[in-house]
Amino acid sequence: MSKATIAVIAAVSAGAGAAATAAMYSMRKPEQTVTSTTTTAVTTRTPSAPVPVLASQVFTPQTTTAPGAPVDPAGLFEYGFPGPVADLATRQGLVSSFDRRTRNPHWVAEHITPASLSIRDGDRKHSSFLEDPAIPDKFQAKLKDYYRSGYDRGHQVPAADCKWSQGAMNDTFYLSNMCPQVGEGFNRDYWAHFEDFCRRLTQRYPSVRIVTGPLYLPKRDPQDSKWYVRYEVIGGAAPNVAVPTHFYKVIYAEEQAAPGGKVALGAFVLPNAVIPNEKPLSDFEVPLEAVERASGLEFANKLPAARRKRLCAETSCSVMVKEYAERQKAFAKK
Ligand SMILES: *[C@@H]1O[C@H](CO)[C@@H](O)[C@H](O)[C@H]1NC(C)=O
Repeated sequence: MSKATIAVIAAVSAGAGAAATAAMYSMRKPEQTVTSTTTTAVTTRTPSAPVPVLASQVFTPQTTTAPGAPVDPAGLFEYGFPGPVADLATRQGLVSSFDRRTRNPHWVAEHITPASLSIRDGDRKHSSFLEDPAIPDKFQAKLKDYYRSGYDRGHQVPAADCKWSQGAMNDTFYLSNMCPQVGEGFNRDYWAHFEDFCRRLTQRYPSVRIVTGPLYLPKRDPQDSKWYVRYEVIGGAAPNVAVPTHFYKVIYAEEQAAPGGKVALGAFVLPNAVIPNEKPLSDFEVPLEAVERASGLEFANKLPAARRKRLCAETSCSVMVKEYAERQKAFAKK
């Protein structure tokens, strides 16, 4: 068992039963693919082509059926292509891909630099949470879904990473950048310290990219020993927004600001649960492939092995817990 795998198992113990699931992913052999048990809709485009693609463009209907075939399955598309569509939004400080089925993002990507974090033009007291009008109404996460749900509207790209402009900060307040997160003990605490860890990486790296998103991991049922994905859906009598069991961050710490340099990669999976501040961040480090298997996404296909480093080997992966008063100030407006 690799060191990384052991770390995953340790990580998992922090979350109530969040379970050996992440460990399971890291230990599976490639041929034992299990992504179909957890995944969500399939993204319809590659990150290298960040242009919204209409569903009709994804599939080119065959106009010619095989000679002599008695059926024409693709004739369906006369009535419309079912999808899935992963709504891609390119905003000032982030790019996001939305999962219409769970009403959560698939992933949200951001970029921080020493310069971007040094500008303080935005203040979250001037921002308000917004339903995302770029998503068809029937698939949107709604403010009322979160109301009295017991969960925070948890930013995936943190507002604090977009202080360089009020407009950019505002953009982080779309619900398409939110997931329901446990507030006390997670979003307002350990997760916030983790976000702060990411910002502190800019003291060493001139350019840092971060992709953040939810996971829905299976957990073993003690009754029948089978694996099930179980998650809450908030929205009251009209349940609408899935509550992820876990969150991931993939961090790309670039050694040089220009493309082509070495990249220190770090992948982390944290349970959507209270995590004690004493828990070392390194406990949550997982192999990148574990996040890929769990999410159905791929994060660094075009990054050759020769340019990769392991973030937690290059720098100390640990959170710094801020003073209580400072924390209150920072998160009072959640
Ligand atoms: C930010 O959002 C607030 C509240 O929705 C709005 O009043 C303000 O004009 C926005 N600012 C910018 C720069 O977009």
